[in-house]
Amino acid sequence: MPDDGIVKPVRRIDPNQMSDERSEGLQGGEGDPSPENLLDSFDQAIGSLPPGDPVRRELLQLRPQILDQQETMVEARRMIEKLEEVVKKVTSPANRIGTFLGATSKETAHIVVGGADYYCNVDPRIPLSRLKKGTRVLVNEAFVIVGDLGFETAGPVTKITEVMGKDRLRVGSEHGLHSMVLQRSSELAHSNLKSGDEVRVDSNYRMALEMLSSTKSDEYYLDTVPELPWEKVGGQEAALQAIKDAIELPLLHPDLFTRFQHATPKGFLLYGPPGCGKTLIGKATAFNLTKQLGAKTGTEMREYFMHVKGPEILNMWVGESERMVREIFGTAREKRKEGFMPFLFIDEAESILGTRRASRHSNILSTLVPMFCSEMDGIDSLNDVVIILASNRADLIDPAILRPGRIDRKIKINRPDKDGTREIYRIYLTDNLPYDGVLAKEADGIGASIERLVERFVDWQFVRRDENKFLEVTLRSGRKETLYRSDLISGAIIASIVERAKAIAIKRAIGTQQDEGIRETDLQLAFNAEYAENDIFPATDITEDWLKLIDYDPENVVKISPVRPVSDARARTTSVI
Ligand SMILES: Nc1ncnc2c1ncn2[C@@H]1O[C@H](COP(=O)(O)OP(=O)(O)OP(=O)(O)O)[C@@H](O)[C@H]1O
Ligand SMILES: [Mg+2]
Repeated sequence: MPDDGIVKPVRRIDPNQMSDERSEGLQGGEGDPSPENLLDSFDQAIGSLPPGDPVRRELLQLRPQILDQQETMVEARRMIEKLEEVVKKVTSPANRIGTFLGATSKETAHIVVGGADYYCNVDPRIPLSRLKKGTRVLVNEAFVIVGDLGFETAGPVTKITEVMGKDRLRVGSEHGLHSMVLQRSSELAHSNLKSGDEVRVDSNYRMALEMLSSTKSDEYYLDTVPELPWEKVGGQEAALQAIKDAIELPLLHPDLFTRFQHATPKGFLLYGPPGCGKTLIGKATAFNLTKQLGAKTGTEMREYFMHVKGPEILNMWVGESERMVREIFGTAREKRKEGFMPFLFIDEAESILGTRRASRHSNILSTLVPMFCSEMDGIDSLNDVVIILASNRADLIDPAILRPGRIDRKIKINRPDKDGTREIYRIYLTDNLPYDGVLAKEADGIGASIERLVERFVDWQFVRRDENKFLEVTLRSGRKETLYRSDLISGAIIASIVERAKAIAIKRAIGTQQDEGIRETDLQLAFNAEYAENDIFPATDITEDWLKLIDYDPENVVKISPVRPVSDARARTTSVI
């Protein structure tokens, strides 16, 4: 109705009412005169005036201004709203990010935020059962989980030093300084982790989140053991018997040893000059023992032969030697659990397990020896792992290692004597090789003729003639002793001589186009060549290097001089005479 329309604006002009209405309007109440309404009312007021009325004209002139101001107001209001929003945003506190450690009930969770632990509630919109251990969660001011941010993709990295049970890992540096225990995140719950592996850790240092690299060190020291029955080791009866007594018997008859309460060693030390079969015997032990154990238990047992070279631990794993030792023992334990029979063969043991005076790396050694001892003490019996140390310089090995209950069996691997030498030649000069026809005619059957060949050849090389002189050793007493080539024979040299002889025979066969076989002279040539060129012997005159080769107490030796060229040796002997 037009009347109403006219009345209303008039009412609004009343100053008392106006203030009321304005305050209402500001609060957004119902009677709010929106800018359009105001203009409408203004227009209606103009309309109510008769045309030609001077007030009406004045009002009409005011209209554009009102329109303008109204637009400005709308704009301003919008701006204020926007600013209010911004102010709200910039003044509201940030949500913290925590690490989810696990659910404590259906609705509460255990989280860690900034190093502090909380039991907190979870926003019902976040399904707690779907949160993964180790994942990042958003928490509000009340420490309620309000968001799942998934796993962190960056963060600190550390190395596992020990796998502890199913869900914990010990990580960090050596000596327990910065080491700590972490939980496995859901991602790693079923991963096959082992010490030495690198893992990424959440920023609160509670959870291992991701495996970064698996160290290849086990591949590095894992060695294969060929088919190696005891018969393939020649001239070492005493040593093999000692090993059998020390290792085989307790392993095969544990009940008897328990009944007699007889202490069993954790392993043994093989010592002696190079090339005489320490490594070979180590592997043969692994091969035969595993086979016997398998036969005893009626299972197919496999050996796990860890061949650790002392100096390489020091050089390749600089600063990580301790971790390596721990890892090696850890691997042995793991492999045992997997059903393997682990053997830990440490070559050049004096380099890592030596007394301080033995090495240039004395500061490393000072921690390695005690650590090795404690790892060894942690081993219950031979049944867990058999430790075999090998060394050319047993005198340099720290006595702590060789104490009873640790490696208290020391087995000497001597240079082969004449009989041993024959035995070893017989191992390499097998029946199925081609031999010279002359030899075959000497005896009945190939076996007997090889025996004869070996007999003669070994006699020849053991003769104490001038050209067989090899070393002159000056003792502290002033006495000089001469060592002959045969005093420095070894299984390695014998194997090499046979190979050289084969090469000579092959060359002849190619040259003559005939059916040639190995001759006695081939062996003799090979023997001379071997001693002239052999790289087993030190290239220098340094006494220390030569000491490894001979069986003299280093304390008693003043000087060792190689008698290399035969002509030289002759000259020297004549001058003495
Ligand atoms: N007693 C032996 N019987 C048969 N072969 C042997 C014997 N000793 C050594 N050999 C041969 O020589 C090779 C080298 O021997 P091995 O590596 O066992 O010597 P080692 O004592 O470990 O020497 P090093 O001190 O230099 O490590 C063996 O692979 C084998 O072919
Ligand atoms: Mg060896």
